[in-house]
Amino acid sequence: LLLLKLQIHFLMREDQIDYAYFGYGVIRCLFTSKDDVVYLAQVYLNKMLLGQYNSTLGKYVGYTKKTKEIADNLNKNKGFLEHEKKNKEKCRTNIPLVLDILSRPVKPIVRLRLVESADSKHPGLFMCSAYNFYPKQIKLTWLKDGKEATSNVTSTDELPNGNWLYQIHSYIEISSKPGEKISCMVEHASLTEPKVYDWVPITEAGKNKIAVGAAGLLLALVFPIIGVIFYKRKATFLFTNRTPLSYLC
Ligand SMILES: *[C@@H]1O[C@H](CO)[C@@H](O)[C@H](O)[C@H]1NC(C)=O
Ligand SMILES: *[C@@H]1O[C@H](CO)[C@@H](O)[C@H](O)[C@H]1NC(C)=O
Repeated sequence: LLLLKLQIHFLMREDQIDYAYFGYGVIRCLFTSKDDVVYLAQVYLNKMLLGQYNSTLGKYVGYTKKTKEIADNLNKNKGFLEHEKKNKEKCRTNIPLVLDILSRPVKPIVRLRLVESADSKHPGLFMCSAYNFYPKQIKLTWLKDGKEATSNVTSTDELPNGNWLYQIHSYIEISSKPGEKISCMVEHASLTEPKVYDWVPITEAGKNKIAVGAAGLLLALVFPIIGVIFYKRKATFLFTNRTPLSYLC
């Protein structure tokens, strides 16, 4: 169900050998149910699992000739086995904490974008994305002037981010007349009621701002280029007998 990972990385370098080993140990508490855990202590080398202690088995297991020998010795050592049993109990004491985290929903961050503007041949393509939410269950609904729109909708699955949080993307191909409102409605355990996000078209004022911004960017790009041209011309002028004019021609 859930994993608490603690990694201890170590780099080993064998003399005369031209490559480095990347070894690491991982201690995992797998929360398998509301009242049980599996405790694992694993040793990897270059991503390969060499050996591990598995609390269900209650012993060490080796997967290579060398680690099999080590495992055999560790399994004869009552102290080590007792120590690992205690570690499993430590994992178990974290169950309430984990259940508490799992019971707390995390609100999604929602973005509504126009991916492709409508033209004479195609309707517009809108994308509604919800990021960083928990738990996984979520519902995105498209609305056109407040009414549900279900045609030409495609959606990804809830994609795990790898940090217990999820993201999802929904697309709609829809033609809209000016003044028609396109919205994305989100329903999730973290929200007390459905939340509606309206598509706000870029206004003329917004377009002007973008134009000014783009012009500024262009100037910022052009000035250094002019500078480089002048520098080159000057350099050419200094180091050859050519005049700047002949350089340009
Ligand atoms: C731990 O051991 C149990 C019992 O053999 C097994 O079912 C489980 O898959 C093992 N877990 C891992 C991660 O190897
Ligand atoms: C769905 O897409 C098709 C093809 O682009 C289009 O003809 C149709 O009108 C669309 N449906 C809606 C409800 O926009």
